[in-house]
Amino acid sequence: MSSAITRSTAALQRSCRQAHLVAIKACQSSSEELYIGTRPLEADVCEIPLVAEVSGIEKDIFRLKINEETPLKTRLVCSGDTGSLILTDRKGDLKCRISANPFKIDLLSKNEAMISINSLGKLYFEHLQVPHKHRATKGNGQNTPADTSQEDQEDLGLWEEKYGKFVDVKANGPSSVGLDFSLHGFEHLYGIPQHAESHQLKNTKDGDAYRLYNLDVYGYQVYDKMGIYGSVPYLLAHKQGRTVGIFWLNASETLVEINTEPAVEYTLTQMGPAAAKQKARCRTDVHWMSESGIIDVFLLTGPTPADVFKQYSYITGTQAMPPLFSLGYHQCRWNYEDEQDVKAVDAGFDEHDIPYDVMWLDIEHTEDKKYFTWDKKRFANPKRMQELLRSKKRKLVVISDPHIKVDPEYTIYAQAKEQGFFVKNPEGGDFEGICWPGLSSYLDFTNPKVREWYSSLFAFPVYQGSTDILFIWNDMNEPSVFRGPELTMQKNAVHYGNWEHRELHNIYGFYQQMATAEGLIQRSKGKERPFVLSRSFFAGSQKYGAVWTGDNTAEWSYLKISIPMLLTLSVSGISFCGADVGGFIGNPEEELLVRWYQAAAYQPFFRGHATMNTKRREPWLFGEEYTQLIREAIRERYTLLPYLYSLFYQVHVSSQPVMRPLWVEFPDDLETFSVEDEYMLGSALLVHPVTEPQTASTDVFLPGPNEVWYNSKTFAYWKGGCTVKIPVTLDTIPVFQRGGSVVPIKTAVGKSTGWMADSPYGLRVALSTQGSAVGELYLDDGHSFQYLHQDQFLHRKFLFCSSVLTNRCANEKGHYPTKCVVEQILVLGLRKKPSSVTTHSSDGKVQPAAFTYCAKTSTLSLEKLSLSIGDDWEVHVS
Ligand code: NOJ
Repeated sequence: MSSAITRSTAALQRSCRQAHLVAIKACQSSSEELYIGTRPLEADVCEIPLVAEVSGIEKDIFRLKINEETPLKTRLVCSGDTGSLILTDRKGDLKCRISANPFKIDLLSKNEAMISINSLGKLYFEHLQVPHKHRATKGNGQNTPADTSQEDQEDLGLWEEKYGKFVDVKANGPSSVGLDFSLHGFEHLYGIPQHAESHQLKNTKDGDAYRLYNLDVYGYQVYDKMGIYGSVPYLLAHKQGRTVGIFWLNASETLVEINTEPAVEYTLTQMGPAAAKQKARCRTDVHWMSESGIIDVFLLTGPTPADVFKQYSYITGTQAMPPLFSLGYHQCRWNYEDEQDVKAVDAGFDEHDIPYDVMWLDIEHTEDKKYFTWDKKRFANPKRMQELLRSKKRKLVVISDPHIKVDPEYTIYAQAKEQGFFVKNPEGGDFEGICWPGLSSYLDFTNPKVREWYSSLFAFPVYQGSTDILFIWNDMNEPSVFRGPELTMQKNAVHYGNWEHRELHNIYGFYQQMATAEGLIQRSKGKERPFVLSRSFFAGSQKYGAVWTGDNTAEWSYLKISIPMLLTLSVSGISFCGADVGGFIGNPEEELLVRWYQAAAYQPFFRGHATMNTKRREPWLFGEEYTQLIREAIRERYTLLPYLYSLFYQVHVSSQPVMRPLWVEFPDDLETFSVEDEYMLGSALLVHPVTEPQTASTDVFLPGPNEVWYNSKTFAYWKGGCTVKIPVTLDTIPVFQRGGSVVPIKTAVGKSTGWMADSPYGLRVALSTQGSAVGELYLDDGHSFQYLHQDQFLHRKFLFCSSVLTNRCANEKGHYPTKCVVEQILVLGLRKKPSSVTTHSSDGKVQPAAFTYCAKTSTLSLEKLSLSIGDDWEVHVS
């Protein structure tokens, strides 16, 4: 695998060096072109003018596009407004300064440079060429036999790349683009998933660049910059007082080089007092290179992390609101053998009193890996199986991959073939490659007609054996092509509109998930929210469902790296993400399995999965001690669902990630910037999963000198701004609630989320140093779009202030009938035992409430309350 990377990286880097910029124009508006300069030409290069357009979009976002003025063919379809050249924002804070010679753009805030573009002069843009002309020019102009000189050989190498038996012929020659960005004062960068790497991006000066190229990499290496399943060409840079983002909108193979120059202190003069010393700010240079397309880049100016999240989702969309069941626990395996097996595993959860929501079926459920079919022997009656799950208020997810078995008898193949819906090979026939079914063709999801048709396949009458509790898993959609170059599709395969695969490789899987989600919505006539898990993804995939980190291994290092991998996805817009619990490959020891459940119970997508030939690992197979520990972790997840669901609403409407690195919550606290062994779930819970074997104690960093933190189990508390050593046994999940927060929970756990709709709530109120706390709860029917179309939701706000806890409406628009009550309130950090506690309803009724107070932990506990969650009320503590 690594030789493949070297090949590709080297080829891209080499072709980038061949690029020549000859002329630049800038557009002030589409009708008014402002010519701003040229560069000296090199002797043998013909003049190809480039047009640079700079525009200001709303919300403090700048967009820069560079393309050939008159390309041979369209290099990219650009939608949206190219706008006008904006030099200063309305407030006069942000300025965009463009200079012509040499070409450079500076983005300034309050007259201080934040981002400079092309200050290292790495702008390149290889223009599209006509093949014969290119070779003829070379041969004639220099009077050199076309096939002998080394230079020609090298040049030809840029037109044709060999990978094993594959020859990638580039129809219009090498077409790479690249540009450098200098981030002034920044040394902490994040983003550009997906890599099995640390959360903070590393310097690539002495090693590999980060590669963005969606690939199927079974058991990928940890701490590696090779591209795996998905790509989001977007990075964030953060320093005290400012967060910015760079979104490089390009779906071809992309490399990102990062180089940080540390701050230096130097002496201006030997004479004079202290003022003679000056400090040069640190700077990080980021060099983006893509194999093709145009330069189309968005600069997000923040200034806060929350602003940047909003700016990014303004361009790419926010996280879809998931159905509530999908936040429960998912049980998967390659494969659950047959209906009997499904029944037994399902019953196992009930026997062992472990909640779970979704049973999953992998590729073996189909007939000969023909998706949308059922293996008649193993799953003779799929509807009966789904009715059993429905009776338990549970769901089924089945797999549907993008490759389609070449078999004229297979209706889906025949229909797609007839309508020309497959990706084509360069000769014009259907592309054929090997995947699970053997010889397969690949649906061309970039074609809107193909997406429309694919969506229609999920209609209940079309998808035989499916019911409304069946949801979908899109796998192998990088796309994975066994025996293809790097196990994927050759770059000169041809898509709808004559686009070469190289142009859009990284967005192929995105389109499959889009079509699948649309199909699930359509089958419900627009009423129900879909659930679709996809392995491959691109910027914006958050609109269509969830993603996971692919084929990880049952080793401690993979548990550990799942945290930074999920944090990176989260800050890159994709909140609904998870890693296979237990590790997909191999057999986890009991301790590792338990620790994995404990970690994942506090992560957005929570699914146990294992590959073929691994030992069975349903939670009850390791003896009661371990069953109990796993049960506890899963039950803890179900207890927290009201909080988690509310966080998903928050990311859905206001783009704030569910799982947050500490720097997002504590943007001015330098110490948080590199932390990746713990994280915040929303703004209230700090989670520090145990990821080492045999751990007797763990060091937990509790940020913020003005904060106070409460251990969620023992209620012990600490002032923030320190690292505390926490004793740990196998049943410990180090979770801390931030003082000043209210976390809504469920006080009773059912067999699945469906059983918990009417069960009571609890509020965990953790007081700040000022004795106050705030929190919120979002609730709706958990599955439909009524929250959107009919405002059928409740959004409540809890405030504890001056010894009074209030429940108030946070959004007057929402209405949703609920019988649910708050039955339990726990107040952490109450220093003095109250003399009385009374509840006050909105109609003026005042009632005393029974309470217990623990002086040792400063905890007030109210039980057996019956306060309607949807009504206004107050609890007075005096
Ligand atoms: C690869 C996926 O990553 C894995 O989760 C799945 O079980 C296999 N394909 C078989 O479908």
